[in-house]
Amino acid sequence: MTSHDAPLGVFDSGLGGLTVVRALRERLPRESIIYLGDTARVPYGTRSADTVVRYALGCARVLTDRGVKAIVVACNTVSAVALERLRIELDLPVLGVIEPGARAAAAAAAGATVGVLGTAGTIASGAYPRAVAAFSTRSEVVTQAAPMLVPLVEEGWLDGEVPRLVVRRYLEPIVARGARVIVLGCTHYPLLFDLIQREADDLAGGPVHVVDGARATAETVATFLEERAVLSTRTERGSLELLVTDLPKSFADVAGRFLGGPPPEVTQIDL
Ligand code: DGL
Repeated sequence: MTSHDAPLGVFDSGLGGLTVVRALRERLPRESIIYLGDTARVPYGTRSADTVVRYALGCARVLTDRGVKAIVVACNTVSAVALERLRIELDLPVLGVIEPGARAAAAAAAGATVGVLGTAGTIASGAYPRAVAAFSTRSEVVTQAAPMLVPLVEEGWLDGEVPRLVVRRYLEPIVARGARVIVLGCTHYPLLFDLIQREADDLAGGPVHVVDGARATAETVATFLEERAVLSTRTERGSLELLVTDLPKSFADVAGRFLGGPPPEVTQIDL
């Protein structure tokens, strides 16, 4: 196997990163992917930066041991606090989700205020305001930690009165501060896309642009592989391997909803 046809390694603390896998498989159907969800230790978003760095290094090593050609960190929390460390420690390209999301938000905002929803860890890191500022000095960035959204998604509560009220509660302060572009700064949140869009439009009294970082990330990965000339040379669809650190059965049950189709077999591994 040439390095072109080596798989991409993708990891997240759990299920959320599958939204990035879905976008990658749509944009780059010939790439094979090994996905690792660290379901034994999810959530990362409530943990200290040091702990997230340690967990992230463990996940990345599993993927490098399997010969991946690049790693896509499909977790905003890890991208916010551990990306630099991963790049220093690993001898292969590491791409995160924050820069693509911030670039898409800055482009859509064209100087308007950008709102960011994310985990406590992502918001506390200040990674989004820094990343948006690198693309636009005109847009103000307002942020809101939304810790209840991950458990709602993990439970499959994607619509109805409870998620609606929770989403509204988190959107209210950033919309009130002028956000008309809202970044879903957590890989779980695209599952709530329609609900967030509806409530944001309603609170703003007009259309709000909601940015799903998963698609922007897939575009960035595609550009990166093209520029490095390491796109897969295979002619058929790439494979997908799913690894988790705990509860493979319940992961498989929910994975279909993230992937938009039946998932392959899920294998449990130890880190
Ligand atoms: N996937 C994580 C992220 O994008 C959220 C879940 C967690 O807190 O571990 O930040």
